[in-house]
Amino acid sequence: MPAPNPPVPDALPRHVAIIMDGNGRWAESRGLERSAGHRQGLETTRRAVRFYATRGIDTLSLFAFSSENWGRPSSEVEALFDLFVSAIEAELPELRERGVTLRFVGERAGFPGELRQRMQDAEDLTRDNGGMCLVIALGYGGRWDILQAARRWAEAGMPGDGDGEAVFGSFLATSGLPDVDLLIRTGGEQRISNFLLWQAAYAELLFLETYWPDVGDRELEHSLAWYGRRQRRFGRVRGPSEGAVAGVESSRA
Ligand code: FPP
Repeated sequence: MPAPNPPVPDALPRHVAIIMDGNGRWAESRGLERSAGHRQGLETTRRAVRFYATRGIDTLSLFAFSSENWGRPSSEVEALFDLFVSAIEAELPELRERGVTLRFVGERAGFPGELRQRMQDAEDLTRDNGGMCLVIALGYGGRWDILQAARRWAEAGMPGDGDGEAVFGSFLATSGLPDVDLLIRTGGEQRISNFLLWQAAYAELLFLETYWPDVGDRELEHSLAWYGRRQRRFGRVRGPSEGAVAGVESSRA
């Protein structure tokens, strides 16, 4: 019997999604207000966008404000909205220079008018860019997404005989984007917290202890190296004799 070939790792994720957790604890551990943690977290966000765009990642999704975050004190919510407005304004020129396409997913009702306007303008100005797609989840929840998709799918007459999952997926807020390959959560908790539930069905899950504001190049490099060592199966058997299966997997990598 010839020795089996070594398993082929999946090299680069197409879609990286991040739950940027730990801003509040980062600030509290320094005796600062939680909003200082969010401001510092924005610095890490900037670094992460540059890092993944430079590495040729197709889609980067960031969980910036969940449906559940409406339950935070109004002062923190307002500080976050102010931060989002100024971040969009400050970052837009570089994002355009890098050819990044910006897309916001989530329920915008209840957001301040200025924020809604900035989101719309940023989407309009970057729509035709050919680089990385940067998805910012604001007012987002995975259950909200599945429910709004189900409503619109039903209104459309429940299309999709034969390829139901792909057709249903086209009603989700992330329509047209690849499934999540790598889902990272910082800050030490190990849960998905209602992020991209449908889209991350087969994602590799990487949990980091580091608070989001402390994430640097070392952690970002580690995320891709770690992913590169994963053996993805999509529920199937993987091995040297399952050439067809390996082909399916490598085409998804
Ligand atoms: C979770 O940390 C973080 C947030 C709810 C906000 C994330 C926002 C940013 C990093 C700014 C990014 C801005 C843009 C435009 C993408 P937490 O407050 O839950 O931290 P904790 O678990 O330590 O309390």
